[in-house]
Amino acid sequence: MKLYDVYPLFDINIVKGKGCQVWDEKGTEYLDLYGGHAVISIGHAHPHYVEMISNQVAQLGFYSNSVINKLQQDLADRLGELSGYDDYQFFLINSGAEANENALKLASFYNGRTRVLVQEKAFHGRTSLAVEATHNPKIIAPINANGHVTYLPMNDLSAWEVELAKGDVCAVMIECIQGVGGIRLVTPEFMQGLRVLCDKYDTVLICDEIQCGYGRSGKFFAHQYTGVRPDIITVAKGIGNGFPMGGVLISPKFTPVYGQLGTTFGGNHLACAAAIAVLDVMKQENLVENAAKVGAFLMEELKKFPQIKEVRGQGLMIGMEFEEPIKDIRRKLLFEQKVFTGVSGTNVIRLLPPLCLSMEEAKEFLKRFKEVL
Ligand SMILES: Cc1ncc(COP(=O)(O)O)c(C=O)c1O
Repeated sequence: MKLYDVYPLFDINIVKGKGCQVWDEKGTEYLDLYGGHAVISIGHAHPHYVEMISNQVAQLGFYSNSVINKLQQDLADRLGELSGYDDYQFFLINSGAEANENALKLASFYNGRTRVLVQEKAFHGRTSLAVEATHNPKIIAPINANGHVTYLPMNDLSAWEVELAKGDVCAVMIECIQGVGGIRLVTPEFMQGLRVLCDKYDTVLICDEIQCGYGRSGKFFAHQYTGVRPDIITVAKGIGNGFPMGGVLISPKFTPVYGQLGTTFGGNHLACAAAIAVLDVMKQENLVENAAKVGAFLMEELKKFPQIKEVRGQGLMIGMEFEEPIKDIRRKLLFEQKVFTGVSGTNVIRLLPPLCLSMEEAKEFLKRFKEVL
């Protein structure tokens, strides 16, 4: 059987990882400034993570959501404490798209409405409503184009007010730092204005923190730079450091109803062990602070390169926009300098390293980057 060929692949087979390094099958070492697409938060093969998962799978890998799973509450307690959301409720699923799908469902159950507002260039996933909320007609199948979603310019509060004032908007979904959209940041004023408008028109404010959250921005959540508390926060990617997992943080104003949400795999024992290990390491190794410190250093140094048109970002979520397509630079970085990086569109290189990236590794990256410019 052939694989369904939807990914343009680099001809590299990664077989091993440690911290911010990965190795291919020939033993070539690469510096990982991509984190497997913002997924590796605490670094590859962290010993505590390996131990927690190994012990858990030897004990019990999975049982269903029809019985108590104390690991779920343990995870929620730790997440509440570390994120500053201990008064919220937590629902677990398996991916980012699923997190957003459930967030939008909750919003619609809450106010009975069906319209959603998102930013232009938004990316919220590839399932039915999440993909409709993604501003890319090429990936919205006709069956998903159901007219629920309006795409609006980022930071242009008056444009959002016009739509919200119609009184029929179910939810506003925001990436405070757009990932796929090219590392673009909301302004605090825009978010504060949205918060007021959402309250006024009984619209649910959702922050999609799947890429920019979980410490990547240098705060636990990127929206915490804006002083706003959303009604719902979605997380995935870094939450399991590669173990497939997603979560929805839900404000106390939502009342749970038996059966309204559900999942077979979400919050299983093995996933929870992985996610608890992630939070342990984030806390013990001060990885949120590290992301802020190393990220600020990288941004400052990158701004000195005259070849880069603009450097944008926060913490270890950094975009470098060039005048020309970056395909060649990225290929050289990978094949000549052995550095993995990400991309947004054609002209932006995206850095999404593990949050444990050290100053030495950041300097090493800058050295190799200089070579290809
Ligand atoms: C901001 C954002 N939302 C949602 C998703 C979808 O997550 P998943 O691929 O786990 O479904 C992504 C994935 O890249 C993302 O960056």
